[in-house]
Amino acid sequence: MTLTELSNSTAAHFAKIYGCSPRWMAAAPGRVNVIGEHTDYNEGFVLPMAIERYTVIAASPSAGAAPRAQLRSTGTNGAPVVIDLTEPPQPFANGAWANYPAGVLAGFLARGISPGGFDALIHSTVPMGGGLSSSAALEVATATLLEAMTGRTLEPVEKALLCQEAEHQYAGMPCGIMDQFISVMGRKDQLLLLDCRSRRTELVPMSDPSVALLVTNTNVKHELGSGQYAARRAQCEAAAKTLGVSSLRDATAVMLEQAKSRMEDAVFRRARHVIGEIGRTTEAAREIRASHWSTVGQLMYASHYSLRDDYEVSCAELDAVVEIARGIGSKGGVYGCRMTGGGFGGCAVALVKTDAVESITKKIGGDYRRKTGIEAALFVSRPAAGATVLKA
Ligand code: GLA
Repeated sequence: MTLTELSNSTAAHFAKIYGCSPRWMAAAPGRVNVIGEHTDYNEGFVLPMAIERYTVIAASPSAGAAPRAQLRSTGTNGAPVVIDLTEPPQPFANGAWANYPAGVLAGFLARGISPGGFDALIHSTVPMGGGLSSSAALEVATATLLEAMTGRTLEPVEKALLCQEAEHQYAGMPCGIMDQFISVMGRKDQLLLLDCRSRRTELVPMSDPSVALLVTNTNVKHELGSGQYAARRAQCEAAAKTLGVSSLRDATAVMLEQAKSRMEDAVFRRARHVIGEIGRTTEAAREIRASHWSTVGQLMYASHYSLRDDYEVSCAELDAVVEIARGIGSKGGVYGCRMTGGGFGGCAVALVKTDAVESITKKIGGDYRRKTGIEAALFVSRPAAGATVLKA
């Protein structure tokens, strides 16, 4: 479904529920990270792209005088969530979807930017909890809607940081900056090389029609994910401390080797992943610019094995997808494949020849079903534009 079709169907759905057309609409995309995993909170580099899957929010001023936001989501059939806008919103129960918009509303209110009361409907084509940043898409779509409603536009960096803060404070997930940045700043046909220390971005063109990025959603999500994420962050900080650097961005493989005896083995391996991955990410950006697809593919496999063995955030299902892809090989049109996002389920991304997409999709889907008994969802996306106001 194109963004225009999605926008039209959300507007029609809104009218059915609230009895009027929406006055404002905004959309923000999910993302897939091509390479640079678990490097953002180590001040390293990441190379994500926004995908053609979006969270759309439609809204209109509410009838009553009380300034409150009434939010409904097509993804949940529960009662609407109501947020009082006269005071800083309190977080909802752990795991509630409303924490994402509530956290973003809190960020706007704290900056003195206050919308009047409104009714909203949220609809998303980013699979929830599928490792494609459905939460960042919801946060950034909310922020973009609030910009449209209030006429106050934030600087892109401030907007992304406000959304990251919402995720930390309201959803309790100590994420880095990648997901919110790419959802705000994505550009059509471009990857974004983001330096997570300086927050400077560089566009890396990805418009060669002969190659495509094929996403495989394993359709599994292992619950240990969120606790393990915080644990990995702590191990990276411990490694940096032992090495005497402020973040692993400043560490080298030689420094790490020399400090090996002063670290727990797991901490050593976490740091080895991060240091290697930061190098692979800038190298991949260079190789993509040169259209050296085989080299890019090898870097993707190396990233996956490092995430599997040293960082230990992969799982049997993600490994299965990567091994099937590797088995197809470059002769069958696969240059490389790796898990993408935080890990413990979610998606893998493969760099493939465009004219082989159909056969590769069939082969990965079929072999994955045979190996795991699970139906995967596969799709190709070109790099998409970031968040946008659809109606103001
Ligand atoms: C999650 C986080 C990101 C990033 C990735 C791993 O998606 O939200 O900030 O750390 O994991 O690269």
